[in-house]
Amino acid sequence: MSAPLIDPFARRITYLRVSVTDRCDFRCVYCMSEHMTFLPKRDLLTLEELDRLCSAFVRLGVRRLRLTGGEPLVRRGLPTLIRSLGRHLESGALDELTLTTNGSQLATHAAELYAAGVRRVNVSLDTLDEVNFKTITRWGDLRQVLGGIEAALAAGLKIKINTVALRGVNEDEISRIAEWAHGLGMDLSLIETMPLGDIEGDRTDQYLPLSLVRARLAQRWTLEDIPYRTGGPARYVKVAETGGRIGFITPLTHNFCESCNRVRVTCTGTLYMCLGQDDAADLRAPLRASKDDDLVTQAIREAITRKPKGHDFVIDRRSAKPAVARHMSTTGG
Ligand code: GTP
Ligand code: 5AD
Ligand code: SF4
Repeated sequence: MSAPLIDPFARRITYLRVSVTDRCDFRCVYCMSEHMTFLPKRDLLTLEELDRLCSAFVRLGVRRLRLTGGEPLVRRGLPTLIRSLGRHLESGALDELTLTTNGSQLATHAAELYAAGVRRVNVSLDTLDEVNFKTITRWGDLRQVLGGIEAALAAGLKIKINTVALRGVNEDEISRIAEWAHGLGMDLSLIETMPLGDIEGDRTDQYLPLSLVRARLAQRWTLEDIPYRTGGPARYVKVAETGGRIGFITPLTHNFCESCNRVRVTCTGTLYMCLGQDDAADLRAPLRASKDDDLVTQAIREAITRKPKGHDFVIDRRSAKPAVARHMSTTGG
């Protein structure tokens, strides 16, 4: 391995999130508008290019790789890419290869994901109520996702459930979701909605601070802060009554950028050094300019020297525009 990637704030970059497609088979209300337009397919990196790019990051010291989207499993040929990237697990260069998925295609893919070396997936699920699920995802089918989760557990995958806390939408369901997840041996991460991309609606109506959610959970249960970390931004508690863990991802109420270890690549090969900032570097051109990886490696190193200190998200009625114009589905969460 060559010299590690270290940013101007002495943070070591060891975690890469790759959005393999901006497309999704759902239209979650906090993520995108129902009439979302997607990138033309010709702009996407090929699977071979994605492999080259991920491998270049692995050579630069990335130890965890998470494939996201959009919905990663709607990208045709994705299992081939995952199988190929699995070689970095076998060689010991990579500690973890994971996915964040909406679960709609998990029943089909769970066994092959496990066979390729994936051991853990994060599944986004904001409600256990069928009607509410339709309201939130617009296009999703809860039974399909629950079937996907069941198949993934049966295949031996560890699952973490991601739930975006939404005021007046799922706030009354959070303890039920935790009980359900813990009953199946799954961790739950709660997430504050972030002002990314136009959603044809007012995010201030949806925003629910997790400090409030935590206080409510603490009235019902005994929550113990624990040092458990997954490499992500969640801070965890253990619930004495269920024996399970709940993670809190709090970009709004408790900034965690100080310990940031990650960067993101979009499906067109754009490197974003921070989810909440616009500065980016094009990696597609250097990738295509030469068969060897020197140019792309140089472009990555140069970009890391510009990694900003952090995001400055606020959710405020006076700021009608989202903090960042691009959607979460483009940057990959
Ligand atoms: P693990 O801890 O490895 O399980 O992953 P994770 O929780 O980091 O990843 P996941 O894809 O499940 O993301 C959960 C939520 O955390 C999503 O809403 C992400 O956008 C958010 N998130 C992940 N990393 C960051 C980050 O660096 N900054 C901010 N603001 N949000 C993040
Ligand atoms: N704010 C917070 N989380 C979001 N997600 C998608 N859009 C947003 C947003 N604007 C979540 C999804 C998924 C994860 C990758 O990001 O629900 O769990
Ligand atoms: Fe799709 Fe995830 Fe966005 Fe929902 S939150 S529309 S599942 S990318």
